[in-house]
Amino acid sequence: MRPLRIRGKTIPLPIVQGGMGVGISLAPLAGEVARLGGVGTVSTAALADLISLREGHAFTSFEAAAHEMRAARRLADAGYLAANVMCAAATTYADSVRGAVAGGADAIVSGAGLPVDLPFLLADAPEVALIPIVSSVRALRILVKQWRRRGAPRLADAVVVEGPLAGGHLGFKVEELEAEDNRLENLVPPVLEYVHAELAGVPVIAAGGIYSRDDVDFYLDMGCAGVQMGTRFLATVESSAAPEFKQALVETTREEIALAQPASPCGYPFRITTRSPRARAPKAKNPCRHRYLVDPEGRCKANTEPDRYACLCNSLLSSAGVLDDDGGLYSTGANGWRVDRVMTVREVFADLGLVAEPLPASH
Ligand SMILES: Cc1cc2nc3c(=O)[nH]c(=O)nc-3n(C[C@H](O)[C@H](O)[C@H](O)COP(=O)(O)O)c2cc1C
Repeated sequence: MRPLRIRGKTIPLPIVQGGMGVGISLAPLAGEVARLGGVGTVSTAALADLISLREGHAFTSFEAAAHEMRAARRLADAGYLAANVMCAAATTYADSVRGAVAGGADAIVSGAGLPVDLPFLLADAPEVALIPIVSSVRALRILVKQWRRRGAPRLADAVVVEGPLAGGHLGFKVEELEAEDNRLENLVPPVLEYVHAELAGVPVIAAGGIYSRDDVDFYLDMGCAGVQMGTRFLATVESSAAPEFKQALVETTREEIALAQPASPCGYPFRITTRSPRARAPKAKNPCRHRYLVDPEGRCKANTEPDRYACLCNSLLSSAGVLDDDGGLYSTGANGWRVDRVMTVREVFADLGLVAEPLPASH
């Protein structure tokens, strides 16, 4: 298996642990994945709330991202660390990117919207890789066109293409999730072609529904330089999901994976296990208090359109084991039902037949 090379740095294993918010992929998970030779990713979603509650005093988004990245770095040795910053968290986006850079991130990975500002935010950080997440070649084309039109100082150093089986917010309308054209194996080839022609052949990383070694090999054989996996790392010992979340996932059957209803205030669909306390006792109306999935004006649709959208902040914070009163809403990829025990990250790698090699001297 070939190592993954991004912007001149070598990652021994072409496995990216996807960023998982809120508060699931924090320093312990990202640090261990990176230490063992993959890409470890810290999620910055609602991180200021989370770290402030955890540490007992107020952190800004900048401080929280820097703090957690530094904690991950202490665990990762020389391993490769990314920060996942969601475009949908519009009011904290720039500060989270800057904080992650200050904390020593090797890469910023950014989706749930198009990261149109990222090249400008990273203009003074040439050592940090810029990695957009897109759900189609069309979205990538639009993004690159916007970057070029605005005179972006740099373009993508790798591209994650994420299909509809992924966990977290999905870049598809509900009615598009099942379409043949949107199957990951059909989304990847045009992205590979476009990246080869327009983006100097930077690494393409496939994501969404990749679970077994066969899945990994399938996408590497197709021409991807790596794969991103979320659900595989969701119920690991090192994941910061609440113990009840991990246990619920272990017990979840295929029929218990569903789309969250009402939808996320940022408008994207996302999957849950119906074993989530909040799915079993949904709230009719749920005003937003933490305000992390707000538009650039700071508005949350759970407040402006309460019949269609529900606040996720409170429930996701409880899913991360942070005290709150709404009951957890446990997000998962379509493969969540395949998780049958809580494993260490090392066991997940072993289960995938991957052995972490020592980092090469060129790193
Ligand atoms: C619980 C959970 C939370 C996630 N949160 C985020 C997030 O905050 N930002 C993001 O870009 N992707 C998020 N994702 C997507 C993952 O980074 C990854 O791309 C995806 O889960 C891959 O699909 P898989 O779960 O089938 O492996 C999340 C996934 C899960 C399972």
